[in-house]
Amino acid sequence: MYRQIGILTGGGDAPGLNAAIRAVVRTATGEFGMSCIGIEDSFEGILGDTHTRTLTTRSVSGILPRGGTILGTRNRGSFVKMVDGKTTFPEVPIGEALANLDILGIEALVAIGGEGTLAIADQFYKRGFPVIGVPKTIDNDLAATELTFGFMTAIDIATEALDRLHTTAASHDRVMVLEVMGRHTGWIALHAGLAGSADVILIPEIPFSFEAIARKVAAREKTGSKFTNIVVAEGAAEIGKGEMYQDTAEMRLGGIGEHVRRCVEEMTGKESRCVVLGHLQRGGSPNAFDRMLGTNFGACAVRALASGETGKMVALQAGVIISVPLSEACTQIKKVPVDGQLVRTARDIGISFAAPTEAKHGEEGLHISHETHHRAVS
Ligand code: F6P
Repeated sequence: MYRQIGILTGGGDAPGLNAAIRAVVRTATGEFGMSCIGIEDSFEGILGDTHTRTLTTRSVSGILPRGGTILGTRNRGSFVKMVDGKTTFPEVPIGEALANLDILGIEALVAIGGEGTLAIADQFYKRGFPVIGVPKTIDNDLAATELTFGFMTAIDIATEALDRLHTTAASHDRVMVLEVMGRHTGWIALHAGLAGSADVILIPEIPFSFEAIARKVAAREKTGSKFTNIVVAEGAAEIGKGEMYQDTAEMRLGGIGEHVRRCVEEMTGKESRCVVLGHLQRGGSPNAFDRMLGTNFGACAVRALASGETGKMVALQAGVIISVPLSEACTQIKKVPVDGQLVRTARDIGISFAAPTEAKHGEEGLHISHETHHRAVS
């Protein structure tokens, strides 16, 4: 059994991080008698003049409903370098960090983060240091786990935004465009679009056509609905075009919402407005589900370490938490299946993804033709 473990949070913050930290500390100290050291600002906290603090049940008291992470986080740090477009992990910082972990008396690590953080954690494991990863991303795009905490809260916030845009859109007979997060995938846009009654959902997995959007606006107009709500994932792109960046050097996505607004206004002549939801989706208190999931992930991560597992990530599959190899967890992105149940349901209830197939039909209520399915409802 380890005497002392370290815990860190890396990558973008997500509601539920503090719930996971609290559960790690309470489980490690209360159930297994280990001491806990919080490492500040992700892996950066174990470089140079290290930044750590002892965590006790008392010091994590009251953090369950709090947004952000009490340990701080970093998106990019000293541990990853891009060389000729390829991700590399330089030896020097890893060696320094391992030496510092030894000095600090940290015998194992719980690393909470997205694909980037987990890939670094995997490097520690590969050099023989015991590590368990906990997945985190509001985008919910890690293939190895059905859900990550932060996602449900982000959907709640995006749904509330759509509800609010709905009433102002209807009052002014406008097209409202809501840009939500989702770098590689459209999970937030799809779920919030369904929950918030969007008329058009634009996601990276389904390249869109402006003609199809304009046709949808016109079709709604014909049936008396003089407003249209569009939700667009930040990584969505027009057919034949790439994603839009607000900062290409930093590869920071942004701008697609305003682009959609401008083009739709030009094509339809309807007054249009764009709202970029941005980091409001990540900040603030986690909802009940994310508190629960963060707590369960945190406790299961410590149980995995205590039972001798390493190089693994805890993951939710079929309703229970299991552990999967870290290497598997960092490499595969979970995309929205374009022929999946949710996309089909959205189409069935009249939501457009502005895909070429839909553009061909071009009529409200007419969607891609569905083959007869003999399986259970797909
Ligand atoms: O990975 C989650 C995410 O929210 C992405 O959807 C988004 O592109 C990114 O983080 C932005 O993060 P930051 O502003 O911290 O770089």
